[in-house]
Amino acid sequence: MHFAERFTMPDRRDVLLGSAALALGGLSGCSSTVGGAYDTTMSRLRAPLGPTPDLPDFVRYATLAPNGHNTQPWRFAATRAGVDILPDLSRRTPVVDPDDHHLFVSLGCAAENLAIAASASGRPASIGFDPSGNGRIAIGLASGQSRDLALCRAIPARQSTRSPYDRRAIPVEDLRSLERAAAVPGVSVLLITDPPGRERVLETVLHANDLQMGDPAFMAELMLWLRFNEAAALRTGDGLYSACSGSRTSPTWLGKRMFPLFFTKASETERYTEQLRSSSGIAVFIGDRADRDHWVRVGRSFERFALQATVLGLRHAHVNQPIEVPAVRSAFAKSLGLGDGRPDLVIRFGAAPALPMAMRRAPKIT
Ligand SMILES: Cc1cc2nc3c(=O)[nH]c(=O)nc-3n(C[C@H](O)[C@H](O)[C@H](O)COP(=O)(O)O)c2cc1C
Repeated sequence: MHFAERFTMPDRRDVLLGSAALALGGLSGCSSTVGGAYDTTMSRLRAPLGPTPDLPDFVRYATLAPNGHNTQPWRFAATRAGVDILPDLSRRTPVVDPDDHHLFVSLGCAAENLAIAASASGRPASIGFDPSGNGRIAIGLASGQSRDLALCRAIPARQSTRSPYDRRAIPVEDLRSLERAAAVPGVSVLLITDPPGRERVLETVLHANDLQMGDPAFMAELMLWLRFNEAAALRTGDGLYSACSGSRTSPTWLGKRMFPLFFTKASETERYTEQLRSSSGIAVFIGDRADRDHWVRVGRSFERFALQATVLGLRHAHVNQPIEVPAVRSAFAKSLGLGDGRPDLVIRFGAAPALPMAMRRAPKIT
């Protein structure tokens, strides 16, 4: 899930776009600039909540959640108690995510956004998971005091930022606030900030990355979700748009031809080495159990971490290769001292300018 970031190294224009995005994209909820139509749609999707927000606004904020390959594998159904979030199995990525782990983590991220947006609007939310059928997240909405205002304001400003960071050390109190924000029952978070620890993670990322790059099925699935230009990103409202990873745009036919030529194991090794070494730390999320309920919890915990990082002016990006390749995952778990536990997500964090924001499909409620 990380090749989109590698299509080309950013050129000068891309760097300028990134700087413009930083200028426009703070916690105000403004989108980054890519182009007129893209920007207009993005401003609508990421507009701040109005004075009397209701379910459609909460669902819009839910869809701004991070999600694997930006497939947006969710459906929303209004209920008497509030709203259900259901998996959209037509948006699975069966090669990289054969057991729907990432899919349910993504639903957990969306549920947490929805609950935060509702709670900040005086509608305290409860989140439950019903494993029957294909699984369902049931969100209940009550009335009460507004809370989580800072996290709510961070929702439209959060992004996955796949660029090198600025190497700064994060103050201990900020690390503690990230841990506190991420506290969700059933999930642990391991923060790795020491250079030797980060080097060990880097080695595993590079090894697993080589294995993924050598897998034609993985590459073919990824290609389905790549969007090489603004028109393609706008038309589908989903997928991995190259500009969002700091890469050049191109006509789709050209992008598809050039894509396989630009990836060598050597160039990717160099790129990930720079990204990991310039990051301030790595967070590994671990659910107490490997089931859908806990994958949803992991998504909730990760999203709270990502939003708190945004509040602190920090960026984050996934380096999930060690947990996506089953042959590597158990050795990775052991190297972290997790025994037979399953590490669920690997996230690097640090400070960097924003890149353009990723597109979303228009939210729908049935
Ligand atoms: C479960 C999960 C797995 C992900 N895996 C990766 C990954 O391996 N590499 C990567 O660059 N991004 C990964 N992402 C980030 C998504 O690609 C990103 O959230 C999506 O493209 C939307 O962009 P945004 O987060 O900037 O809104 C993952 C996100 C989730 C929730």
